[in-house]
Amino acid sequence: MELKKPWQGRFEKPTLGEVEQYTESLSFDWRLYRYDILGSVAHCKMLAECGIITHEEASQIIEALGEVQREIERGEFTLDPSFEDIHMAIEHRLIQKIGDVGGKLHTARSRNDQIALDMRLYLRDVILSVREGLLNVIEALLKLAKRFFHVVMPGYTHLQHAQPVAFSHHLMAYCEMFRRDEERFCDCLKRVNIMPLGSAALAGTSFPIDMSFTARYLKFDSITRNSMDSVSDRDYLLEFLSASAITMMHVSRLAEEIILWSSSEFGFIELSDAFCTGSSIMPQKKNPDVAELMRGKTGRVYGNLMALLTILKALPLTYNRDLQEDKIPVFDTADTLLSTLKLLSMMLLEIKVKEERMEEAAKTGWILATELADYLVTKGVPFRKAHHIVGQIVKFCMEEGKDFEDLTIEEFRRFHRAFDETVFNVLDLRKAVDRRKSQGGTSWSRIKEVLEITEDYLKEVRHNLLNEKSRYGL
Ligand code: ARG
Repeated sequence: MELKKPWQGRFEKPTLGEVEQYTESLSFDWRLYRYDILGSVAHCKMLAECGIITHEEASQIIEALGEVQREIERGEFTLDPSFEDIHMAIEHRLIQKIGDVGGKLHTARSRNDQIALDMRLYLRDVILSVREGLLNVIEALLKLAKRFFHVVMPGYTHLQHAQPVAFSHHLMAYCEMFRRDEERFCDCLKRVNIMPLGSAALAGTSFPIDMSFTARYLKFDSITRNSMDSVSDRDYLLEFLSASAITMMHVSRLAEEIILWSSSEFGFIELSDAFCTGSSIMPQKKNPDVAELMRGKTGRVYGNLMALLTILKALPLTYNRDLQEDKIPVFDTADTLLSTLKLLSMMLLEIKVKEERMEEAAKTGWILATELADYLVTKGVPFRKAHHIVGQIVKFCMEEGKDFEDLTIEEFRRFHRAFDETVFNVLDLRKAVDRRKSQGGTSWSRIKEVLEITEDYLKEVRHNLLNEKSRYGL
């Protein structure tokens, strides 16, 4: 009789069909097959190196594992959910192929440390791809900022016109967010890249294994220190989900601005047709669906973080089957984040910027009021007083339906004697932008500085990423 369930020795009744369905994870953890096999190869080599199995047996197992991998990739081995999970499916096929020798692979390990290993290997790859996706978004923003370097737009607070800023400055604000995200993923990788295999079910193993061999083979930086923590720890997944949630929050803010900017009210940009859809009823419509879905999918990514936090809450040590539920939120987040970042960089590169419309908007709403107040300050008027005076000028302009530049010098002087002809010099958008020369300000020279710094950062991190990828054979 073929043993599908390794625990059949102790059980009298077969598992209920519904229970199999309810408890299986193969329908979603099948995607770990490559990592599972890689981990098994490493484990097998270690067992042979430590004299726990023979080298002969090890090569037999490793060869058969390679065949199983090829079968899965060619779709020749049907991953039937009654195997329960990817570990058992692969082991089952291995034993089918080479008989009893295959049964030696699971010596000195358990599925509890095996799944921890698989998830860490999987996440390592994902994080490298996410970092690459983030760098592509940063590069796209950088290109846009350079292409539209001199465009002026209204800067907002409370979504009200506040002060004029460079469009490039606005874009570079998002570069800062995505840079922080990239750093967060780098940091998260430190806690992912730790090797748990050998912790076995929970207590470690009595076999004379060498965990550092496995760690070296799989390019892990270190080994977990406590077997009980090792099989129950999912912090590294939480960190990934939380870094992803923060990244998606940034994406959703940018998506929201893109949606606003492409509305007729703003009219600042036009999205490429390739990233929009029409309406089935209103012929004139061009909807920013991709940006809307980026905003919308952020909700699901937040939910995934809450799901795992809740799964882990109050779980006693060590492995509990609840932990199997970690995969769906993690896979879903990884897929969503990676596709979002890819589309975002593509969409950004194709944005058409309506420069005149942006600058036109920047002129409205007495956006240069701060310039006037600062002007009075340079004439010795205390800022608080200057603020009050300019407030009165704005009120006057509103009543008269005028802009600042429509006022005569006599009208200005009615509000304060310090005004003279030079006041008209400050009523210039471009100059107003350029006056903000403080560090991190919107002046042209400061933006140029940041563009250069960001370019250097991109170059350096891309180089590091390439090295890391080749270290892991990617
Ligand atoms: N499928 C399980 C999971 O994803 C693997 C570990 C199962 N261990 C166990 N003792 N049932 O968590």
